[in-house]
Amino acid sequence: MALLPILEYPDARLKRIASPVTEFTPAIKKLVDDMADTMYDAPGIGLAATQVNVHKRIVVIDISETKNDLKVFINPQIVMADGEIVGEEGCLSVPGYYDTVKRASHVVVRAQDALGKTFELEATDLMAVCIQHEMDHLIGTVFVDHLSQLKQIRVKTRMKKRLRETERA
Ligand code: NI
Repeated sequence: MALLPILEYPDARLKRIASPVTEFTPAIKKLVDDMADTMYDAPGIGLAATQVNVHKRIVVIDISETKNDLKVFINPQIVMADGEIVGEEGCLSVPGYYDTVKRASHVVVRAQDALGKTFELEATDLMAVCIQHEMDHLIGTVFVDHLSQLKQIRVKTRMKKRLRETERA
């Protein structure tokens, strides 16, 4: 088990665009395992590779109460989206901050698993929101980027203050 350091907003590396995974090597499998360990340890319900400073299109999600339903999405694409849901979101890269974001309430995602096998998954509500939130990370978008400019400034100020306090401690 290996835990990876998680980048925190407004770290500029969270803005990088991830590249597709082209070879499903043991290193990719290890990265997926480490991302899952990191997500469970945090604890969180989703993690994108971008958040651990690896700029590849990889996402792990587990929204189950029992934390034994890991979903791995490599090179994910949303092939259908409809409906609307406004829910409160948080992010391991924005610790302690939660706010509401509007998303599609129903999506179909096509992706590959850790071995490269293609699958499609239909998701609603929390799972649909989580997929969209994590896929946003792969294109350099944090949920805070969906908020008003004023809120973004407030979150940045708060995160910088938090960073200074962490450094002092
Ligand atoms: Ni996030």
